[in-house]
Amino acid sequence: MQLNQHTALVVGGGQTPGATVGNGRAVALTYAKAGAKVAVADRKLESAEETAQQIIAAGGEAIALALDVRNEGEVRQAVTTTCTAFGGIDILHNNVGVAVGAGHRDARIEQIEAEDFSFLVDVNLRGMVLTCKHVLPVMRAAGRGVVINISSLAALKPYPLVGYKTTKAGVIAFTQQVAANYARYGIRANVILPGLMETPMAVEGQVGRKTRKEIVNERDAQVPLGKKMGSAWDVANAALFLASDLAQYITGAVLPVDGGLSVT
Ligand SMILES: NC(=O)c1ccc[n+]([C@@H]2O[C@H](COP(=O)([O-])OP(=O)(O)OC[C@H]3O[C@@H](n4cnc5c(N)ncnc54)[C@H](O)[C@@H]3O)[C@@H](O)[C@H]2O)c1
Repeated sequence: MQLNQHTALVVGGGQTPGATVGNGRAVALTYAKAGAKVAVADRKLESAEETAQQIIAAGGEAIALALDVRNEGEVRQAVTTTCTAFGGIDILHNNVGVAVGAGHRDARIEQIEAEDFSFLVDVNLRGMVLTCKHVLPVMRAAGRGVVINISSLAALKPYPLVGYKTTKAGVIAFTQQVAANYARYGIRANVILPGLMETPMAVEGQVGRKTRKEIVNERDAQVPLGKKMGSAWDVANAALFLASDLAQYITGAVLPVDGGLSVT
């Protein structure tokens, strides 16, 4: 699964600080290890820089970019900068996804504030639409490209909070629309649904009410395969396959990476 001669833009390629690696950082490192040049974009520039530094330290090529996916001008600029640095974008990987941020938080239907819901739509769904809006013309001109969007198993399974559930479900529909409309240009689009992964966003984000160990044990116990959460590397390996030529006939796929949670 080589990505030599490929360039990737990983949006949300920094990570929430914590004991383990996040999905976006693991993906960026994995693409780079397979030979891709990687542009790491994140709202937190220092976190994107950390990912890029890790790639460079391992002998790869990377640049770090500041980008808030809510801002279309910044999205356009990040795409232009990546194309100038690397000569194009073969892989667009959309990792950004939140349930809390910028003073907003998700809630159950009867408690959700309209502004909080709008925030989650802007970050989790509209952001992916905007990155695709600006990257797809680049891929179309090249006659090839791969889009990988990160949704969540929460889109398919019962989930209490309305913003995350509906935006992640929207990511699936949007990815299928890209796949359907861009196959004729040689562009593939697939969506990954992580289940319960041991990333800082999912684990450290809940520490307080419970200890880290209690949270890990509770999450582990729910997973059919090995009674253990997955790691960001499991998501990254699935993404590497979908980005590689081994998946050249796969588009519009909805791939759970969940240790069997979706079938139980
Ligand atoms: N960890 C899990 O168990 C799990 C399960 C299902 C789905 N997911 C999905 O995986 C993805 C990432 O998870 P992660 O563990 O890597 O989280 P993470 O928080 O480590 O990574 C997300 C990155 O996105 C960045 N970001 C947030 N808002 C942004 C914005 N407006 N513009 C640009 N960047 C922004 C953050 O700074 C962060 O670096 C999310 O889409 C999440 O919904 C995770």
